[in-house]
This record gives sequence, structure tokens and C-alpha cells, in this order.
Amino acid sequence: MGIAYFEDSRVFKLDTPNSTYMIKIADEEGFILHLYYGRKLSDEKVDDLCRINQHPFVPSKNERDRCSFMDTAPFEYPGHGLGDYRDDAFSVLNGDGYSATSVLFKDYKITKGKPGIKGLPATFAGEDECDTLEIIAYDKVNGLEISLFYSAFRDVDAIARSVKIHNTGKYGCVKLTKVLSSCTEFYGDEYDTIFLHGTWARERNIDREHLGYGKHYVSSVRGESSHQEHPFIGLLSRNADEDHGDVYGFNFVYSGNFIAQAEKSQFDSVRVLMGINPVDFCWNLKSGEDFEAPEVISVYSANGIGEMSRTFHDLYRKHLIRSKYRDMKRPILINNWEATYFNFNTEKLISIAKEASKLGIELLVMDDGWFGHRESDNSSLGDWYVNEEKLHGGLKYLVDEVNKLGMKFGIWMEPEMISPDSELFRAHPDWAVQIPGVKPSMSREQYVLDLTRQDVIDYTFGQIEKILKSANIEYLKWDMNRQLTDLGSAMLSKEAQGELFHRYCLGVYELQERLVTEFPDLLIENCSGGGARFDPGMLYYSPQIWTSDDMDPVERLKIQQGTALIYPLSTMGAHVCDCPNHSTGRTTPFYTRGYVALAGTFGYELDVTRISEEDRKRIPGQVAMYHKYNPLVRTGDYYRVASYNDNKEWDCWEVVAKDKTEALVTIINVVGRVNHKARLIKLKGLDPHKTYSLRYYNPETGEEDDEYLKAKGDSLMYAGINMVGDYHGDCKGRLLHVLEV
Ligand code: GLA
Repeated sequence: MGIAYFEDSRVFKLDTPNSTYMIKIADEEGFILHLYYGRKLSDEKVDDLCRINQHPFVPSKNERDRCSFMDTAPFEYPGHGLGDYRDDAFSVLNGDGYSATSVLFKDYKITKGKPGIKGLPATFAGEDECDTLEIIAYDKVNGLEISLFYSAFRDVDAIARSVKIHNTGKYGCVKLTKVLSSCTEFYGDEYDTIFLHGTWARERNIDREHLGYGKHYVSSVRGESSHQEHPFIGLLSRNADEDHGDVYGFNFVYSGNFIAQAEKSQFDSVRVLMGINPVDFCWNLKSGEDFEAPEVISVYSANGIGEMSRTFHDLYRKHLIRSKYRDMKRPILINNWEATYFNFNTEKLISIAKEASKLGIELLVMDDGWFGHRESDNSSLGDWYVNEEKLHGGLKYLVDEVNKLGMKFGIWMEPEMISPDSELFRAHPDWAVQIPGVKPSMSREQYVLDLTRQDVIDYTFGQIEKILKSANIEYLKWDMNRQLTDLGSAMLSKEAQGELFHRYCLGVYELQERLVTEFPDLLIENCSGGGARFDPGMLYYSPQIWTSDDMDPVERLKIQQGTALIYPLSTMGAHVCDCPNHSTGRTTPFYTRGYVALAGTFGYELDVTRISEEDRKRIPGQVAMYHKYNPLVRTGDYYRVASYNDNKEWDCWEVVAKDKTEALVTIINVVGRVNHKARLIKLKGLDPHKTYSLRYYNPETGEEDDEYLKAKGDSLMYAGINMVGDYHGDCKGRLLHVLEV
């Protein structure tokens, strides 16, 4: 059992393979306090560590004497307004208008396995893979029962936390104004933070900073996890790097508004909070009802940032993604968006499919523009019927023709949206999120459907279902191209308007849950204007997510490094783009575009009928490269060797097989170097005692060259190899295959 309770010391000890988390119930008061999180400990006797001894301010006892402050107490779930002036996790407005909350210990349960969370995505685990502690606390003033859940995984160094609030009904309806999902306290070290920042076409760039005093946070109030900031926070000891030092990572399994905050207090303690953003959140919890807050994953690594990433990857591959495609090589797709934009018809798509099928591409994805009268992005969202002026013969005819070529067919939809110029909006103007009497603001010339309404959810699902059943559609790209504004729902009462953001997110989850239940064989790729909803919540419904609209391989180095900080390579939608690239105008070698896309799901987004003959001839070799290396890329351990983000010159990552018999090293030389012949690369993650043979992949032949070197794992890792290459010219890439002999 990974969780134990020690009666004498009133300590809970949660163990994962290499980490320990401890909680103490303190004083007769029943404070639930944080004791320890870090490397695995053999017993629970660490009382001395605990700032609990400093006696927090307890009004009934010490009347706030000179040196007792609640600000010194490391609370597991801090309430509001009773003397702890750091940011709290939980506040309310009760029937009398009071906001204070207290969270005191009442009882606990330890069970095997892991419960789900109603209506929300969450990690899952069998009885022999995980143990769960439920601490039941009470808030006497407001008549609430608060369950704090902690699930400790037995196979990965991760803990999943969530919170359930139950209204016992003592004081009627209580408005929840803040229900965060986790609070973790740190003390005694100097820390750095890692946040992920971005914008459209530049998602998840890594931003590392020293943590000074005060509150430092990222958040979203956009109704989705967003391009701009990410529901992740890394807390690192100052000396931590890729391979050394203490690193804690927190990631929110949710796709709506969030806050992720680190606060360094006057006494040098650090409080890390994560949960639903309290801005514009107000939930009416009636007597007898429960509110379940989404889950936070925390990962501890004693060996630097790289190990944190590998732990997240393992956890998500095994305990979050449900799709049957999770463990499968995905079909190589070709998407027509940047090939044609809105300018296509049946003949054009068939001509792309004909050429693509000859080259070994396996799936044609028809992107935006096939429905209503959509010729640009200014109309028809919501009118999910085929535009037969473009698709002569209809959808089934097109799909059948593509299938006859031996290819699968996929389709793009944006189910959460409604265009003002659509039949749907003309019939149901009140279905858009809006404040009655105020013209809502547009973004990309569209409004957001009010998915807090069951009638809208049911109608939308019916539309998706009808399309998917009308032909042999085997893949769906689910897009979401604008963020929420003008918060108002025609169906919610005036008291309940503060529930809109969260209810919207629950509506999206309900739709996607129905989709995966009814179409278990459908391969789904979530997307939001590129990668604005690349979060663990969406991975629960789709095994892959479109990473960014920017496919330029140099830009992608940063985007994919930031994304792979948390998410497995198998989840990152990545395509070989057209050239010059449509976002940056940059010209890059075809091979380099392929190597960068190989670190994701791999596909094409260009017009194969129009690219140069030379590049077209390169595709079958690239297809073979994907088939050869994808099983390793999808399942292996990811190591970062060099970062273009940091050194501004070159990038290198490595994927090592779990049994350490094989590795694939990708090197991208972004900026050429004059008079430079070789680069020292120290490989990572190999078995020091195994002997490996090293071969470069030759893109011209599509085969590997003759053995270049044979060496023991320890030499390859500690002495390194001299990577001899062509350092003239920009954006050159190479693949090195390392195989045990
Ligand atoms: C978003 C997506 C793109 C494409 C367009 C279509 O921007 O990220 O890949 O599907 O929408 O409008």
C-alpha cells in the first residue's frame, strides 16, 4: 500500500516509487498541515521539520499573541479570512453574506485504486496501480464538508489531487467563490519557476525565472486553457537543470479558466496554488449538492527537469489517454488547410489524394470550408451540411473515392461555434453566448455556442453524429477558434450567470464524452486555433492535439520543446509544411521539416500536386522513416540534449527505448557555423554496460549508412561523440540511430 496513516503522530504518508508526500493533523484544533514532499523517506518521523511547532494563530486559544500567525502554517487546503493572509484555496459567500471559511480535519478513508470525477477528465488507475487518500474536513460556519483526494501512483512519481465540496444543508445555499484543486507548501530553499507563455503560432515557450517575494502566476480568463499562458507551473531548486536537482511540476487536468500561482511569503515559505480561476466564478451549491473541482497532477523529480518530463509522459500515456490509438502508429495524414485554404472542391481533393496515396500517405483530412456556404471564415459555422457546390456528388461520394485509393478519410469541424451569418443563428439567435440586449463582440467573425444549455449540447451532438454516420469517416479534427466574451446565457438564472465558464467547459466535455462513447474507433485530434487547448483535459478525449498553426521547423523547435516539457511526443500534432512557410516565410530543407515532424504524430500539410518533383520524390523515403522510427518515438523516453531556445544555434533531443536497446538522436543545426567541423554530443539515458552501434540515417537512400561507430553506453554518455557534420548553411538536420549489438 502506498499510503499509510500513523495514529500516534497523526501523519499520513503517501509514497510513489521515488517520492514521499506527508500530511499532519495538528493540535486538537484539527489543522491539516503539509509536512514534506520530496525524495522518498523510509519513515514518517520528520516532526522536527515542521513549522507546525510555531503554533499558528488560533483565536480561541492564543488571541494572537506576539509571535503566532496563521501565516506561518503550511496548510494543505487554506481557507479564507481567518488570519492567513497568503492567497487561499477556498472561499464562499454564505446566506448571511460572510466569506470566511475554515477547513478542519474530521475523518479519512484510504482505498485502493482511484475514483473518477463526475463530468470531468481525470487520470485513471486499477486497484494494483494506485492508492487514494480522502481526507474529510468540515467548515462549521458554512455547513460544508470538504473532501481532499490524494491518489499516489505505484508506477510513476505522480500524485493526483482533487477536491469535492458537499453542502450538508445546515445553512441553505452557499455561493462558492473560489474552489482551487491543490495547495502545496515549500520551505527552506531558493526556487526558480517555469511558466509556459505564448500567443497564436508561438505556443508554450519556456520562461524560467527566479522566484522572488510576492505572487507570481499565470492564468486564463478566456474560457479555454489558451495560447497565452498554460495550466502548468514548475518549481525548481535554483541549481536544477535538465539532469540534476529537485523539480516539482504541477499540471491542471482542465481545459477552461485556470490559475497557477507561486507565492513567496514574508517568512520565505512558498505556496503553490492551482485550480479554476476564481475570476468570474461563482457557483451556487444548494443543500445536499456536491461540487467537484478538477484534478491537479503533481510530479516530483530528484533528477532535474528531464525526469519530470518523462514522468508526465509515462503518466499520461498510461493513466490519462483512453483512445485505442494511444498505443498505435497513427496513419500518416495529409491535411488540405495550407494546401488550398477555402479554395477546394471534390476534384481538387481527389487529385491530392491520388498523388498522396501513391507516395504512401494514408489519410486525407478535409479541413475548413466544406459546409454551408463557407468560402471564407465569415459564415456558416453551425450549418453542418455539405456544400454540394464544392463537394459535387456529396460527402459519401468523396469519401468512397478516397477509400478506393486505399486511403482513409478525415474531416474538420468546429462544433462549439456559431456564425452570425448562418441558418442556425437566424433560427436560434439566443444560442450564442451573449448578454441580452448587447451585441456580442465577434472574433474571427463568429460567436460561441452556449454549451451550458442541454438543448444546445444535444442539438450539436446530433449534427456531429449525422455527419460522422453519413460516410466512412475515420478521423475528426475538432477545432475551437475563438475565446469567450460577453458572458451571458439566456437559460441560466441571474444568480447562476457566474457558473457559465465552468458549465461551458463541462458542456464541451459532455460532447466529447458522448463522441468517444458512440464512436470508439474514431481517431480524434483536438485543436484550438493551433494549440490553444493543448492540455491534459483534452488528452482524456483525444490521443493527439494540434500543437500549433506554425509548422515552420525552426519555430516548432521551441514550441515542441515547451510542449514536450509535459506532454508525450505521441500526442503532438506535427506536419511537414509547405515552403516558404506560410507563417514565417522561412525556407527550410524538406528533410529538416520531416525530422521535426517525426517528433510528433507526423503528417503533411501542403499541396502534393504542386510541390517540386524533387521534394515529391522525397516523400516515400520520409514515409518509410516514419514507419521505422515512430514505434520508438511514440513509446520511448525523451531526453533533451541541447536547446536552440537557450544556445541560439542548435537543437538536439533523443528518444531512448524503455529497455535501453535503442535510441534515436535528432540534431537540428539551426544557424550555420563557419570553420566548424564537429560537435561534441553527450548522449543520455543509455545503459552504460551495453555496446551500441551508431548509424546515420541517409535521407537520400532512405536507409541507414554503414556503421559509423561502435561504443559502450558509458563512453557515449560520459565522453560523448564527435558529431561530424556539415555546419555550413542553416537548418540542416540529422538523425542518428543507436542500436544495441
Ligand atoms: C484553425 C486551425 C487550422 C485550420 C483553421 C481552419 O486555425 O488551427 O489548422 O483548421 O482553423 O479555419
